[in-house]
Amino acid sequence: MAAMRIAVLKSLHRTTRLHNISQRFLLHRNEVRPISAIMSPPSMAVVYDNNGPPDKVTRMVEIPPVEVKENDICVKVLASPINPSDINRIEGVYPVRPQVPAVGGYEGVGEVYSIGSAVRGLSPGDWVIPSPPSSGMWQTYVVKEQSVWHKIDKQTPIEYAATVTVNPLTALKMLEDFVKLNSGDAIVQNGATSIVGQCIIQLARIRGVHSINITRDRSGADEVKEKLKKLGADEVFTESQLEVKNVKSLLTNMPEPALGFNCVGGNAASLVLKFLRNGGTMVTYGGMSKKPITVSTSSFIFKDLSLRGFWLQKWMSTEKAGECRNMIDHLLGLVRAGKLKYEMEMVPFNDFPTALDKALGKQGSHPKQVIAF
Ligand SMILES: NC(=O)c1ccc[n+]([C@@H]2O[C@H](COP(=O)([O-])OP(=O)(O)OC[C@H]3O[C@@H](n4cnc5c(N)ncnc54)[C@H](OP(=O)(O)O)[C@@H]3O)[C@@H](O)[C@H]2O)c1
Repeated sequence: MAAMRIAVLKSLHRTTRLHNISQRFLLHRNEVRPISAIMSPPSMAVVYDNNGPPDKVTRMVEIPPVEVKENDICVKVLASPINPSDINRIEGVYPVRPQVPAVGGYEGVGEVYSIGSAVRGLSPGDWVIPSPPSSGMWQTYVVKEQSVWHKIDKQTPIEYAATVTVNPLTALKMLEDFVKLNSGDAIVQNGATSIVGQCIIQLARIRGVHSINITRDRSGADEVKEKLKKLGADEVFTESQLEVKNVKSLLTNMPEPALGFNCVGGNAASLVLKFLRNGGTMVTYGGMSKKPITVSTSSFIFKDLSLRGFWLQKWMSTEKAGECRNMIDHLLGLVRAGKLKYEMEMVPFNDFPTALDKALGKQGSHPKQVIAF
């Protein structure tokens, strides 16, 4: 792709820019390296030197070997997705973002390649994910401390191992944290085709909770509806189908939802609010349309609605690592049992620019792009 310069750089200091990157990625530890030090292989990485449009500022470079220190693990990355938050980090609009130059990617799965001398409990060949997630996964080899890595069951399909943290965990936390849901209750959400949305449908269904789902208008809307229903969605509406005076009149045999999820904003958020019952809560966790949320004065006064927000990264921290890992193991167990699935497209690393274009929405709607290394 013309917009992205792919430069496979063969020598360490071929350009000043690469030299700067190697300074950050290799020499920042500021130590004299013993001759017998274990080194990682060189790593092909998607790097950005400045924040900006991801298709303009990212490029593929070879990062020189780094030392695998005594508590470090060198992981050969197997797969990593392109999430909306990865795009926002590169754009420079995410509240917490790595210092540039940086390697993209925040979650993924890899195989232990080599270990430092003090590492216990992990061996070459094990599959690990960074948990809580950690920047720099869009590269072929990553070196990070042992404490970053969580060992997972190798029976897990690779694409699910790569994507379990950011989106499925968000779905699980949001279903648990805001309103106590009982079997027979209902939730409403927009952005239902997203991975978070697909997980909410299934995790709600496992609890006996019904889901009302709102999608964008698009060609193939009926096919999308069928897919979501197969996952367990009770009702699926496109936004234009909800241009009626009373949206609740479209529901059959469904309690009014006390909890709604919004990852779109604009009209799609207003529709979630319209479905909520008196005293209901809408949780906003994304803003895909980049449009603000408008709430009518009357819905505050006469429906006493509550608006809340959720940010996984704020909840996840080193102290929460144990809880986070237990929830991930639970989610991966559901995946292996065939109870949690979502649509993804695996893309070879060489096709990163095409996958990025799809993730940026330049080619219409596409399943989650997962890079296979
Ligand atoms: N707050 C948190 O901690 C947290 C954690 C995880 C995810 N998130 C957010 O959750 C949302 C979903 O993430 P994901 O990775 O699950 O999504 P995804 O699988 O990458 O899917 C993208 C979703 O966004 C929709 N979309 C894209 N552009 C849109 C637009 N201009 N207007 C309306 N909808 C649009 C897509 O609809 P189509 O299918 O119609 O294309 C699809 O449903 C994102 O906003 C993400 O940032 C937040």
